[in-house]
Amino acid sequence: MIDIHSHILPGIDDGALTMEDAVSMAKQAVNEGITKIIATPHHQNGIFFNRQQDIIKRVRELNCVLQSENIPLEVLPGQETRIYGSLLDDFEKGDILTLNHTNYLFVELPSGHVPRYTEQLLFEMQLKGLTPIIVHPERNAEIMNNPEKLLNLVKKGALAQLTAGSLTGHFGKKVQRLSVQLIESNTIHFIASDAHNTSTRSFFMRESISKIHKEFGSQVNYYFHQNAELIVQGQPIYKQEPSKIKCKRFLGIF
Ligand SMILES: [Fe+2]
Repeated sequence: MIDIHSHILPGIDDGALTMEDAVSMAKQAVNEGITKIIATPHHQNGIFFNRQQDIIKRVRELNCVLQSENIPLEVLPGQETRIYGSLLDDFEKGDILTLNHTNYLFVELPSGHVPRYTEQLLFEMQLKGLTPIIVHPERNAEIMNNPEKLLNLVKKGALAQLTAGSLTGHFGKKVQRLSVQLIESNTIHFIASDAHNTSTRSFFMRESISKIHKEFGSQVNYYFHQNAELIVQGQPIYKQEPSKIKCKRFLGIF
């Protein structure tokens, strides 16, 4: 299994603090059935700045340590970039790193709202040949209140990644209900851990797979697994036509 979102690189954001922490996370990932993991440290979120070249160097270092300890996990380079006005200028400068050097780029929205320029910037990214992936939209306050905002962005070519722990209820019932509804309406293309540590913000991938199997059937798990593989290879992913988000689950009926 491939996990496309993690904070496993040590000492550079709010994920693993030390190399020992990173190794512990790697062992836990292997126990979850993960064989490849994309390291996606925060960038430009107001606290952390992790530019392309630095991430690539640190991924190499972590892979060396994992190999020396015989831990069967391969770390691939990536970045979780908070959306900001000059993102594409910085992409041209070489600060921004796509997922495993493909054309797929993680974009994080601020937690409280969807900036007005989002649609325009995601469009401009696509004009440059990039495919933006909105990370954990289910935890954005504006999308929680109005999920059609995400549907609109997905209809215009953006992809979306749900966090495993959202589906398993680790971020509360409201986020969990919305997660189910977003999958049901085909607005989610990937499930990933966004793991930060081995305790409070762990992987929850196995648990989310069980939940998906129960709610939607095994073919939906297969769809997410295939898409993670395709991302790493830089291939086009599978998509289904997004549909209008039904409100019954938001009312807590299910
Ligand atoms: Fe993250």
